[in-house]
This record gives sequence, C-alpha cells and structure tokens, in this order.
Amino acid sequence: MNVDVKTTIAQDIAHHVHPQTNLRAHAEHGPTLINRGQGVFIYDAEGREIIDGFSGLGCVSLGYHNERIAEAAKRQMNTLPFAPTFYNRSHPRVAELSARLTALAPGAMTRALFQCSGSEANDTAIKLLWYASTARGEPQRRKIIGRIRGYHGNTVATVSLSGQPHMHAKFGLPLPEFKHTELPNYYRFHIDGESEEEFSARMAQRFEELILAEGPETIAAFFAEPAISGGGALMPPAGYWEQMQAVLRKYDITFVADEVVCGFGRTGNMWGSDTWGLKPDMVSCAKALSAAFFPISALLFKDELYAQMMTNADEVGIFGHGYTYAGHPVGAAVALETLAIYEEIDLVGHVRRVSQRFLERCQALSDHPLVADVRGVGLFCGFELMRDAVRREPFDPAWKVGELVQNFAHDRGLYLRAIGDRISFMPPLIINEQEIDIAVDRFKLALDDAWNIVREKI
Ligand SMILES: Cc1ncc(COP(=O)(O)O)c(C=O)c1O
Repeated sequence: MNVDVKTTIAQDIAHHVHPQTNLRAHAEHGPTLINRGQGVFIYDAEGREIIDGFSGLGCVSLGYHNERIAEAAKRQMNTLPFAPTFYNRSHPRVAELSARLTALAPGAMTRALFQCSGSEANDTAIKLLWYASTARGEPQRRKIIGRIRGYHGNTVATVSLSGQPHMHAKFGLPLPEFKHTELPNYYRFHIDGESEEEFSARMAQRFEELILAEGPETIAAFFAEPAISGGGALMPPAGYWEQMQAVLRKYDITFVADEVVCGFGRTGNMWGSDTWGLKPDMVSCAKALSAAFFPISALLFKDELYAQMMTNADEVGIFGHGYTYAGHPVGAAVALETLAIYEEIDLVGHVRRVSQRFLERCQALSDHPLVADVRGVGLFCGFELMRDAVRREPFDPAWKVGELVQNFAHDRGLYLRAIGDRISFMPPLIINEQEIDIAVDRFKLALDDAWNIVREKI
C-alpha cells in the first residue's frame, strides 16, 4: 500500500461519514477505495480490475468513461456554469430538456420539474400531491401508500414512504401519513399451490383492504417502482400490475411511478412502465438520466396537476418550492447529451439483445445449492439465497450468507450488492456479451466460495 493510499484511508476513517454503511465496521476496516473506471470496469487502489455488476448504485448506464458527455459538461461550464430557474429565469438547456423528457415520458406528461436526486424528485412529488389536495378543497387527502421494502429515498418524507425498517429505526419514522402495502415477492410469500396470478390477486386484495381501512378519501397517492430495486431486485409477478392498477382505478387514486432505477433502458424498454404496462399519473426519474455523470433528477407530470398548482400559486402569489441547483445548466447539458447518445447507439435495443445472454446465464445459476430463485428482466436480475429452495427455508440471518457472497464476488473481481439474502445484479447498460460471461463466471466462483463455508454449518 503506498503512502497516498494510507493517507486517504486514514482521512476517510477520521473524517468522512459514510451513508448506508456499518459505521463500526468502517472505523475498523476503512473504505474500499476506487480510483478510476473504464467501460464496465472499476479499479481499486491496488489497480485491481473489478466488473461493476451494480452500475455504481444502479446509475452508471454508459460505463465509466464518455468523451462526449465530458465535452458537453466542459462546453456548458465554459458557457454558462450556473443559472437559477427561480423567479421566471431560464436557460436554453433546461427548456430543451423539459421538452425532450416530457415527450419521452410514459403517459401524457407535459411538465418537468427538476431536482438533484431521486429522493428530491419523490419528495417534491409528495409536496405537489399535498399542494394539489388543498387546491381541490380536499386537505384531508394526505396519506401516501408505498410498499414494504420499497425504496424511494432518504428525505424525511421519502424515507417514510420507503418500506425499509432499518432506515426508520431510531429516526422516529415513518411519519404518520405514510402507509405500506405488501411486498410482492412471489417465491418467498406464495401459499403452496398458489399460482403467480392468484398471488397477485391476493396482493391487490390486501392493497384494497388497506385503502378501505384508511379511507379512500384520505389517500393522496400510491408510489411504486415498476420493479423493486433497493428492496432486493424483485420483478413483479404475473398479473401484479394489472390487478394493482385496477384497484387504483376503482378508488381513483393517483399513481406515481418511481422510475429512478428502471428508467432509461434498465428493463429492456425506455421505462419500467412500458415493460409492465403501467399508466402513471406522475413519473420520477434520476440516475441514468445523466448516465450518473451529474446529479440531476426530474419529476414529470400532467397539465391537470399543473392547473391545480396554478390555483394555489395564484392565491399565494408564487409557487413556493425549489432548489438552488434545480435545472442546473451543466446537469441539463449532460442529460441532453446522454439522451442523444442513448438514441444514437440504440441503447434500449442493445439491452434487449444482450439481456438474452445475461438472463440465460443468470438462470443457469439457479442450479447452485445456495440459489433458490432467479428472476430478471433486461439487465436487472435478483437472486434469492435459501437453505432449502423447495421448502423455502431461509438461512439463519446471523450467517449473513448474502454478504458472504457479495464479499467473495468482490474478491473474485465482481461488484454485486446483497440485500439480506437477496443479491442484486445490474451491470452497466453498455455491457457486452463477453463481459457478461466474465461477470457471471466470477459470480459462480463467488457462490462456490460461499457454499464451501455455508455447507460446513448446515
Ligand atoms: C427507486 C429509487 N427511488 C429513489 C431513490 C433515491 O435516489 P437518490 O439516492 O438519488 O436520492 C433510489 C436510490 O437508489 C431508488 O433506487
């Protein structure tokens, strides 16, 4: 280890507070330092090459180097590095991006409101829903429904909306307006003999029961990721979205699709909403919007909501919401260049082509003694690790089997993410078939490494 690396690690341990990290373990072991990236590969401080099987945090769509995006950012920084979008002010890039994104959006969206992160986009959506409720003379319509294990961000409101107990614990959250319906993990929670469609009907029925228990007139919206990402890379079971949306229509409940991870090609369509036939009233997007080269997010919605915002803004005199860096010119220029590249290289077509190999190779791992269930769409795959796949008997959580696989994968040169005993595998969207083979081979070796330890305990 050279002196610079030692200094960096010492500084990091002494001063850098890491989000979503075991703080004690960090104090003891320090960070994994990543120095640079190229294509789908990242390189650690020792120069070791690792395939990024988690796209950073599900955001690095075009890999770790892109001259065109770097040039677009530089051009914009040299032309207009900042311009506010408050007080009627605008600039060409943000106006162009608003038009481009609303045209691209699933559903008839006409308006774009920008922020810097997925959390802020969803938080803004919650505020707009509450704002619209008062404009319609329905101030009691404030409750927001998410799903157990859903993930929508880390602000006070979006973490309340998320169904992640470890993110609520000790913070005194969730806030009382936020409710959670069932996690549609068919493999884990189906009753013996229950088909996927029957399971989906049961999920929809539980959803309806929650709506009725809370009072439909008090519910402002339902938020959902088309496929659950941070909760463990869970694809919706057959019939799930048809049945859930039937309930939404029955009670006329606003539907917000959180496309922060699924948006821009991850599932083999531009949007997860396209993949599963979702008809959202509002869409939040971030991450691959800028290929992760710049923090930018957008909330896309319809004129109907905009008219309600105007009613309130007329009364107050101003739409009282906004972030300094909303619609940042560099972010907007980077996003426009990213979207142009997606179109030119037909990124969605590429994902469809290579995902056949990706999913085939992932499915083949279901024979492994640690793996109980494999489900994926596009370049997005989740693995359930279980002690007994047939009896659906989980491992003792104290064995931390998911973390074991994640750590061995890292040693083998593949970055994956364990969420409990689920593994999320979602490589950059530009990955090619040869790189997919290398990544899955490394994953298989990591599973073998973990199995060598786990089988001693069984
Ligand atoms: C589906 C989803 N929504 C929202 C967020 C929050 O985005 P951010 O971390 O940019 O605030 C995430 C983050 O991973 C996410 O996965």
